Amino acid sequence: MTQTRPFTTATTAMAVGALSAVRPATQADVPGILALVQEHARRGNLLPRTRDSIEASLPDWLVAVVPHGGALEVLGCVQLLAYSPRLTEVRSLAVSDAARGQGVGSRLMVALIAEAGRRQVHTLFALTHAVDFFLRFGFTVTEHSRFPDKVWRDCRICPLRKRCTEIAVSLKL
Ligand SMILES: CC(C)(COP(=O)(O)OP(=O)(O)OC[C@H]1O[C@@H](n2cnc3c(N)ncnc32)[C@H](O)[C@@H]1OP(=O)(O)O)[C@@H](O)C(=O)NCCC(=O)NCCS
Repeated sequence: MTQTRPFTTATTAMAVGALSAVRPATQADVPGILALVQEHARRGNLLPRTRDSIEASLPDWLVAVVPHGGALEVLGCVQLLAYSPRLTEVRSLAVSDAARGQGVGSRLMVALIAEAGRRQVHTLFALTHAVDFFLRFGFTVTEHSRFPDKVWRDCRICPLRKRCTEIAVSLKL
């Protein structure tokens, strides 16, 4: 099995976004997803993830991949994390620097919303700094307190808990 890696290139102007395909993640994508999420976690955009947590939730991930150097590389990823049959978090949404601003994040969101519809999700939510990005897809700003299970699961152990600057957004499907 050929493992996919995160897409990294010094040539940031490459039109890789248009060449990419969005699809459900496979085991081969795990190293690429992990590297992408960890890079954004280092910058404070996302919570860190472990390989185990990605593998355990693999059927809930979508990736954007692009052929590069004879292999497929991961340009972007996102997970649907169900808190209940009706409530799902948009988690670990990330696009590599080399592909930013080329519509990859938008295509992942469109695919994620379609998948949430197939799963009969009632409400999607996220805690994010990229508020304007989510507003484009019909999300509206809301209160963290609407998602106590998220706060219990992640926020209570987050080092930034007392000075969190993330905004809660939600979308009723
Ligand atoms: C947010 C993110 C996934 C968007 O990916 P992307 O592929 O660059 O997005 P697109 O190219 O589809 O952008 C669509 C539009 O959203 C805008 N946009 C992109 N990122 C944005 C952000 N962080 N905040 C606000 N607007 C943003 C773009 O400017 C673009 O607008 P335009 O069409 O007028 O030019 C990407 O910036 C990222 O990985 N950010 C770091 C991780 C993060 O914050 N994830 C969200 C956590 S929930």
